[in-house]
Amino acid sequence: MLDLSVKLAGVTLKNPVVVASGTFGFGREYSQFYDLGELGGICAKGLTLHPRTGNPAPRIAETPMGILNSVGLENPGVDAFLTEELPFLRQFDTKIITNISGNTPEEYGILCEKLSDAGVDLIEVNISCPNVKAGGLAYGTRPDLAAEVTETAKKHAHGVPVMVKLSPNVTDITEIARAAEGAGADALSLINTIRGMRIDPETRRPILRMNTGGLSGPAVLPVAVRMVWEVSQAVPLPILGMGGVSKGTDAAQLMLAGASAVAVGTALFADPFAPLKVRDGLAELAERQGLPSVAALTGGVKPW
Ligand code: FUM
Repeated sequence: MLDLSVKLAGVTLKNPVVVASGTFGFGREYSQFYDLGELGGICAKGLTLHPRTGNPAPRIAETPMGILNSVGLENPGVDAFLTEELPFLRQFDTKIITNISGNTPEEYGILCEKLSDAGVDLIEVNISCPNVKAGGLAYGTRPDLAAEVTETAKKHAHGVPVMVKLSPNVTDITEIARAAEGAGADALSLINTIRGMRIDPETRRPILRMNTGGLSGPAVLPVAVRMVWEVSQAVPLPILGMGGVSKGTDAAQLMLAGASAVAVGTALFADPFAPLKVRDGLAELAERQGLPSVAALTGGVKPW
């Protein structure tokens, strides 16, 4: 029997497939399609201390191999999540990961206090949102600030593992990975979206109201695989790999590059069942290769 379970920062996931923050809401819509307990974990929509309406529309633009988004962290705020959404998610036999963003390191600390007190399984510290003025990328592109946010989050997470979400919009992602590790991160997730832009040649207006946004979907998979590979060699932390995963062989690439688990995001918009297909595809590949577990794929790349 193939063992599908994996460990991520000490948390056991029943299978390596998680749904990525911002692509699954709080699970309600997808729960019409299947038992959310089939998933290794659910990473909830990114939370902030106070509710946010997000950026003005249009904030989604299709591209040939993915989408650009400039959602701007629309969310009901952490308190509404705790009272209205967390009890819903708790019905399912899966791990609950919360993604947090703050305007200041102190805000990350308060968010960690509230969420760890509520007993979430893992906290993903988002220092990589490309669509907000304060916080976001400002923290994810400077090692000193990434370290400050990580340290504050750790201090207030009361033992709940802290996973820092890294941006690909940097010259050397390993610098930020090392800074997060040095500040006590328990895991890393990567990659967030790649900054991009589309322009309507007739109106000469950018398609997105904020002009630029973050690219996700199949186009970014090779970038994600390369960055997971680089980070896995630079730091000894477990990695949640993401970026353009829509089938088992995509997930296998991220795991071979060094990821312990994978997140499925943009693929969900075209196919709500994508995470289950990724899980089954990974299992099929591992079985065909005679592996005892899917975890045996992690770090198995044979570089030339
Ligand atoms: O705009 C957004 O809400 C995106 C967030 C993120 O990429 O982390």
